[in-house]
Amino acid sequence: MLKMHNVSKVYRTDLIETHALRELSLEVGAGEFVAVSGPSGSGKTTFLNIAGLLEDFESGSYQLDGRDVSRLSDDQRSKLRNEKIGFIFQSFNLIPDLNVFDNVDVPLRYRRMSAADRRERITSALELVGLASRMKHLPSQLSGGQQQRVAIARAIAGDPALLLADEPTGNLDSLMARQVMDLLEQINEMGFAKDIANRICFLDQGRILEEGPPAQIFSAPKEPRTQQFLARIVAAGRL
Ligand SMILES: Nc1ncnc2c1ncn2[C@@H]1O[C@H](COP(=O)(O)OP(=O)(O)OP(=O)(O)O)[C@@H](O)[C@H]1O
Ligand SMILES: [Mg+2]
Repeated sequence: MLKMHNVSKVYRTDLIETHALRELSLEVGAGEFVAVSGPSGSGKTTFLNIAGLLEDFESGSYQLDGRDVSRLSDDQRSKLRNEKIGFIFQSFNLIPDLNVFDNVDVPLRYRRMSAADRRERITSALELVGLASRMKHLPSQLSGGQQQRVAIARAIAGDPALLLADEPTGNLDSLMARQVMDLLEQINEMGFAKDIANRICFLDQGRILEEGPPAQIFSAPKEPRTQQFLARIVAAGRL
């Protein structure tokens, strides 16, 4: 599904070079639910943005769903991103002057799909996240948790192969955060997952420091860590 090999990313300014990712290799199989954890600045967002085709990388290779994505034109990347990837951001990123229905419709408008098909997808995605009764609301008329659920509906409406979430609960209080996490887990377990695995990759300074099942990584009494799952990848099982 997702296969990165020795991916490096350097941010350069006149004065400094920041090695955001250092030869990072990671594979995520269909149906896996993987959390990427690590301290601030360790490269989580950079990794997710590269995985989500939002950012380029310097060296290494990246195959998404069997396709080498390092040499695509901008148009090809946008098309692939639209078809294969759903992205959930910490700050929701809804369009403020579009209502809930139209926000979920945004990525679908780039597809060759009839209005009736789009309507059906939007409705079922909103039903799934429990917001079918809020279709005409604007984002500003919703709570934070509801806004994030709209963003989740938008991310899954296109039936993506890969769902990426960068600190999806970072702006929510703990109750809303729990609801959003439960929803993501539910989505992963529903039609998506073939062979559910749970894995955490712990990043430090752009490298994978440890990788394994949550219990193994978090039970080890090492230096104190942020124990939250900071970013998540849900690789859907549809190829
Ligand atoms: N646009 C940029 N220009 C220069 N440096 C950047 C840029 N974006 C990120 N960096 C640097 O790359 C490194 C990795 O950043 P990244 O945002 O991936 O970290 P993160 O693990 O997501 O952190 P956080 O938990 O704070 O969100 C950091 O040292 C950061 O300063
Ligand atoms: Mg980040």
